[in-house]
Amino acid sequence: MTEANHDVLIIGSGAAGLTAALALAETKRVLVLAKGDLRSGSTAWAQGGIAAVLDAGDTFENHVRDTMVAGAGLNRRETVEFVIERAPAAIARLVDLGVPFNAEGADLHLTREGGHSHRRIVHVDDATGWAVQAALLKAAEENPNVTLLPGRACIDLITGRHGEKFSGDGRVWGAYALDEATGRVEKHLARATVLASGGAGRVYLFSTAPRGATGDGIAMAWRAGARVSNMEMMQFHPTCLYNLEVKNFLITEAVRGEGGHLLHPETGHRFMADYDPERMELAPRDVVARAIDDQIKRFGLDCVHLDISHQPPEFVRGHFPTIYEKLLGLGIDMTRQPIPVVPAQHYTCGGVLVDLDARTDLPGLWGAGECTESGLHGANRLASNSLLECFVFGEAAAKDILARWNELGAPPPIREWDESRVTDSDEEVVIKQTWTEIRRFMWNYVGIVRTTKRLERAAHRIALLRREVHDYYSAFRVTTDLIELRNLIEAADLIVQSALRRHESRGLHYTLDYPETRPEARDTVLVP
Ligand code: FAD
Ligand code: SIN
Repeated sequence: MTEANHDVLIIGSGAAGLTAALALAETKRVLVLAKGDLRSGSTAWAQGGIAAVLDAGDTFENHVRDTMVAGAGLNRRETVEFVIERAPAAIARLVDLGVPFNAEGADLHLTREGGHSHRRIVHVDDATGWAVQAALLKAAEENPNVTLLPGRACIDLITGRHGEKFSGDGRVWGAYALDEATGRVEKHLARATVLASGGAGRVYLFSTAPRGATGDGIAMAWRAGARVSNMEMMQFHPTCLYNLEVKNFLITEAVRGEGGHLLHPETGHRFMADYDPERMELAPRDVVARAIDDQIKRFGLDCVHLDISHQPPEFVRGHFPTIYEKLLGLGIDMTRQPIPVVPAQHYTCGGVLVDLDARTDLPGLWGAGECTESGLHGANRLASNSLLECFVFGEAAAKDILARWNELGAPPPIREWDESRVTDSDEEVVIKQTWTEIRRFMWNYVGIVRTTKRLERAAHRIALLRREVHDYYSAFRVTTDLIELRNLIEAADLIVQSALRRHESRGLHYTLDYPETRPEARDTVLVP
């Protein structure tokens, strides 16, 4: 057992985790843990960009309204204002860190995405996340107060219950983490812990999210006693590439923002006219994803077409160089041909409940980014508001931790990780089988269009699998796959239980049994 003490422990090296780390490192020693590679989260994969009011013709109020229209009124207005008003400063900090945003003369170039009434997305071509991740990592690597430890899969938060003297309280003092190279479990203690572990997209069979998006942070916080909210609000991106070789490749919403049309692949009909004639392809994501789902099911299609070939080839290549090259490698020339697309899970709107100081229910635990539910996204996230939330809440967490530093106290003696009753697994196949099963029934029963019967079927399967996973976890030494599976089943359960509680259709939660939207918007809050 290795033991390491830092002032602050941060779980996750994406936009949220590194923003918090850099803000804290001015005065504190910070440890950042990441599962796998330091670039393995969604941040590095982000394409479209970051939303911010930077144009003279735009206003904060416009951005607030667009966010709340997309979120179907479930957003908390004070959070929406809090984030949107801080967007220009967040962009300025990224410019200072060296993020090479596209510019037009002295101004940053602004692109457009669905649900936005104005051009307000700053971007680095069509690979914004890669540039942002690189700049944040460079700054963190150069900061002597930041230690970055990749290859660490956190298993559980350490609380007062893990103290040598059992205190029974839920105060968080760090986390147990598996060193993925040695197989040893380490104990990382800190006065403050920030959860920045990303979403739970991989609970679905088709997802644009990276392999490690298994809801670890949400499950860990839930097990430790934190409330979780709005987990039924799973966002499906309308346009993921449909290709038998390459799975999960996103075609950015900016393609529609720059004029792309959605077409029936056989008739060429621009079908958004039948669903949202005013906003067409630039309607919010839930509307567009449901329309595509409807076309696919109604006409028995494999996919629909996204066509931007009516724009000049140099315009397409200039705006979307990464996507253009990727598709060309697959034999699709997007300057001349339509792109076959299907919806896929994309973003986890729900998560660990946090307030405007990024505080969770648990003393000692803060949360930022996709693993949290801050009130920004409501029932459906507006495009490119997610990275923004990471920057604003990463900062907020750091600020609050620093303000409360003198109250935080040092960690008590904590018990070692106990492996005395487990052995190495001789049945790894169980993990793969269960993982596939979960992802398949979540896709089929808890997808874009839901019914109570299907949700109940999913709940029944989760109960059975949960018992099996629990038995497996109690008998065998942990591996990353096992840690993820244990969290995946927890995340699936939280999604299904939340969906069963919402007796209406709102934003991303659409159920045939309750097609109406209730007059009053209410969060679904699950209490452990
Ligand atoms: P992530 O960047 O996902 O990082 C999570 C971190 O937690 C990783 O370092 C991971 O290793 C670590 N971690 C997870 N579990 C554990 C564990 N058990 N132990 C230790 N570490 C752990 N949003 C936008 O605003 N604009 C966009 O253009 C955009 N495009 C997107 C494109 C794609 C393909 C995808 C998938 C998402 C996109 N999003 C976009 C959403 C956005 O990228 C994410 O919501 C955001 O990057 C999340 O950042 P994060 O810091 O919360 O988590
Ligand atoms: C995209 O580029 O379409 C993704 C933007 C986002 O998820 O906000």
